[in-house]
Amino acid sequence: MTGPGPDAGPPFFDVVLTQRACRTFADTPVTDAEIDTVLRAATHAPSAENRQPWEFVVVRDPAVQTALHDIAEAAWAGGGRAFSEGRLPDELLAEVDAGYAGGGYRSAPVLVVVCADVERCLPATVASSIFPCAQNLLLAAHALGLGSALTTLGASAGPEVRAVLGLPEHVWPQVVVPLGRPARALGPPRREPVADHTHRDRYGTAWEGRR
Ligand SMILES: Cc1cc2nc3c(=O)[nH]c(=O)nc-3n(C[C@H](O)[C@H](O)[C@H](O)COP(=O)(O)O)c2cc1C
Repeated sequence: MTGPGPDAGPPFFDVVLTQRACRTFADTPVTDAEIDTVLRAATHAPSAENRQPWEFVVVRDPAVQTALHDIAEAAWAGGGRAFSEGRLPDELLAEVDAGYAGGGYRSAPVLVVVCADVERCLPATVASSIFPCAQNLLLAAHALGLGSALTTLGASAGPEVRAVLGLPEHVWPQVVVPLGRPARALGPPRREPVADHTHRDRYGTAWEGRR
């Protein structure tokens, strides 16, 4: 075991019910031990055929962070924002804007770029094998008191990200996760009630919660 042990964190449901996307960070550093712990949790995710196709690039180099930030900001300013306007609730749009205004990826002490080695998984299972890993990473980070965000926009410019990170052709960037202490409290997650989206036995029959 490297880094803080599994007993170090709060109860699971306290973690999973309060985790939120964090886009602005305090200067406080993140230790390698903390990164080891979140990556260990990430690698305990399920993956198709247990291929574990993940590859992580842990970025602390400010020049690399800035390059990744510039790619993401260009994607946001050059079409992402226009696409999202009118689709995202105003509050979420404002949160993403504030993240870029606050320095974006440059403001995080560390970035973890989660990639997929496509020689180790079937094409149809790239995303479905990587996203559980990313989710474990977010939850473990939150359990350690670290803010994080699952972002795909910054990874979507694959060739540019590949060039910045020196990724070989068969390693595809999927998610960029900034990690650090949140600059401010994030507030409770905004989620719709379970009963609004749950059906008993057949679609359309109300679940009605616990019996
Ligand atoms: C597939 C996926 C892609 C996402 N991409 C981005 C992104 O590119 N940039 C970003 O700021 N947030 C991104 N998010 C984070 C969502 O905006 C966030 O999870 C959602 O709004 C819920 O907000 P909360 O975590 O604060 O409760 C992404 C989330 C998912 C699941």
